[in-house]
Amino acid sequence: MSQTALPRILLDALARDAATAILTGAGVSAESGIPTFREAQTGLWARFSPQDLATPEAYARDPQRVWDWYRWRRKLIANGGPNDAHRACAELQSRLSECRIITENVDGLHQAGGAGDVVELHGNLWRQRCAAGCGHLETSEDFADGPPPTCPTCGAALRPDVVWFGEALPEQALTAALAAMERAELVLVAGTSSMVYPAAGLPEAALQHGASVVEINPEPTPLSDRIHASLRGGAGTLLAAIAEQAPR
Ligand code: OAD
Repeated sequence: MSQTALPRILLDALARDAATAILTGAGVSAESGIPTFREAQTGLWARFSPQDLATPEAYARDPQRVWDWYRWRRKLIANGGPNDAHRACAELQSRLSECRIITENVDGLHQAGGAGDVVELHGNLWRQRCAAGCGHLETSEDFADGPPPTCPTCGAALRPDVVWFGEALPEQALTAALAAMERAELVLVAGTSSMVYPAAGLPEAALQHGASVVEINPEPTPLSDRIHASLRGGAGTLLAAIAEQAPR
């Protein structure tokens, strides 16, 4: 994409090294071959029921089924690896004086793509914690078949350290995300359908604080009409073009 195709409001903000926040969703990992959630036909929630796989009740009912699903997703992520969108976010973070990456994704691919500081709103599926709440938390890259692992501290089952439906977001992450929105002069919203709250409310907070908000998504979203610009296309190409315009 040529420089002229990027909106002036975005180019100006980059040129003056404006405080920036990037909010990302499943679409930034789509080019790694990882399905999004809500797209018709291909989205995970078109093929699987969240009630069977992504609630505490589902885990209590059938831990093996839930664990196997997360294990399958770990394999997809490990095979896909980071793509140009993740690398471009990391590049923006290294070029700009202040650039906070906030993600709804649990795949860890921003970090794998070189990002240093990532606010994870929905957890990370490479971490697992005690389902009984004893406080044990560990990182694991294991995706071998077998029953869900047990907590080495108290013997209860471990669960993925992700936010399931009906659960609250980690307070520290939400606070950090809101603070980043309030500080940002430029907010890029990439690859999210902007339908799941509270994450979907973050750009709104940024708008109220006077930020320029630019969406990157091949499809319109409920946010599109309320912000300064919507760039229609894949996150890999568009974020790379944006990173290219940031000061070195
Ligand atoms: P969705 O599946 O709701 O939306 C993905 C968005 O990515 C859509 O708007 C697509 O148009 C867009 N998209 C697809 N390919 C793209 C590409 N190559 N480049 C840029 N955009 C692309 O995913 P999220 O908004 O992330 O929650 O979903 C939010 C939350 O809902 C997830 O974090 C998950 C889910 O239930 C939890 O797991 C707690």
